[in-house]
Amino acid sequence: MTEMRPVTEAAAIKAPTLPDSQTVTQVKHWTDRLFSFRVTRPASLRFRSGEFVMIGLLGDNGKPLLRAYSIASPAWDEELEFYSIKVQDGPLTSKLQHIQPGDEIILRPKPVGTLVHDALLPGKRIWFFATGTGFAPFASLLREPQTYEDYDEVIITHTCREVAELEYGRQLIEEIRQDELLAELMGEGFADKIRYYPTTTREESPRMGRITELLKDGTVFADLGIDGGIKAETDRAMVCGSLAFNHDIKAILEGFGLTEGANSDPREFVIEKAFVG
Ligand SMILES: Cc1cc2nc3c(=O)[nH]c(=O)nc-3n(C[C@H](O)[C@H](O)[C@H](O)COP(=O)(O)OP(=O)(O)OC[C@H]3O[C@@H](n4cnc5c(N)ncnc54)[C@H](O)[C@@H]3O)c2cc1C
Ligand SMILES: NC(=O)c1ccc[n+]([C@@H]2O[C@H](COP(=O)([O-])OP(=O)(O)OC[C@H]3O[C@@H](n4cnc5c(N)ncnc54)[C@H](OP(=O)(O)O)[C@@H]3O)[C@@H](O)[C@H]2O)c1
Repeated sequence: MTEMRPVTEAAAIKAPTLPDSQTVTQVKHWTDRLFSFRVTRPASLRFRSGEFVMIGLLGDNGKPLLRAYSIASPAWDEELEFYSIKVQDGPLTSKLQHIQPGDEIILRPKPVGTLVHDALLPGKRIWFFATGTGFAPFASLLREPQTYEDYDEVIITHTCREVAELEYGRQLIEEIRQDELLAELMGEGFADKIRYYPTTTREESPRMGRITELLKDGTVFADLGIDGGIKAETDRAMVCGSLAFNHDIKAILEGFGLTEGANSDPREFVIEKAFVG
């Protein structure tokens, strides 16, 4: 028979051993390159939906190995969610991809970032442009009531190489549309404001091509029934992808007359890197 340990001893074993440690509560693998996970949230952590924090594990040298991660959960959620790449030889994600519920990760509680509502001037329609794991900050903002208070229309585009890489975002949007608690939080009819526009570039799917090309040739506007393209008076945008993607979308938005904003200088669009390199 298994010997029962006194509660105090069990609690001591469970006590955090890492600095700024949080406990993993859920892990879901989406593809061999993508997974998402949830961790406990420090009671004192305040952040704005769309911001990122530094998270990581202890390295082999005993020092924290930290990387920037967008918080994929909204500011009101009692846990924190992350959506992660698995880089096979990546210092952090070669290890992080093996975490299990009950494990601890390090989370430095200093959220920052530019993909926040405060960095945009008021508008009528907001565009979230993501590639790959750049979807993460929008997973937060799509569950943020202010998104629906501030805008009549919320367009989320997500471009990935393959169909399976869209699945985290697709399921999340499906869940948002059906969630009664969210409907209560965000107001009836909020889900009708979401327009989801997924595209793939290297595998057959209903809409193929880079979003940049589909914007330039007008396909996006034709598909969504938008007259006159993106307008500086009404449209706002947040962008999160690779450096090349961010660069190309910025040029397109500037071509439509939008200017880049920041926390200290709100304007018509904001940009953040989904990764460095
Ligand atoms: C502001 C910011 C927010 C970020 N948010 C996220 C996030 O929410 N989810 C996430 O998975 N990563 C995110 N990253 C990237 C993250 O910080 C790490 O780079 C990633 O976890 C890989 O760490 P690593 O140590 O395994 O490899 P690294 O040495 O950091 O990266 C190795 C190489 O892998 C590639 N790579 C790294 N990250 C990605 C990625 N996300 N997608 C595609 N290729 C990548 C790059 O070519 C990079 O040079 C963010 C980066 C920044 C700057
Ligand atoms: N995804 C994979 O299956 C895979 C497998 C092994 C290794 N990797 C490596 O992992 C790294 C990241 O791969 P990733 O697929 O996550 O990210 P990524 O290379 O940034 O591509 C993600 C999506 O964004 C598109 N894209 C890239 N640059 C763009 C631009 N300037 N304008 C518009 N769209 C753009 C890509 O289209 P395109 O397809 O047209 O580029 C793809 O659909 C790369 O270094 C890659 O070599 C990826």
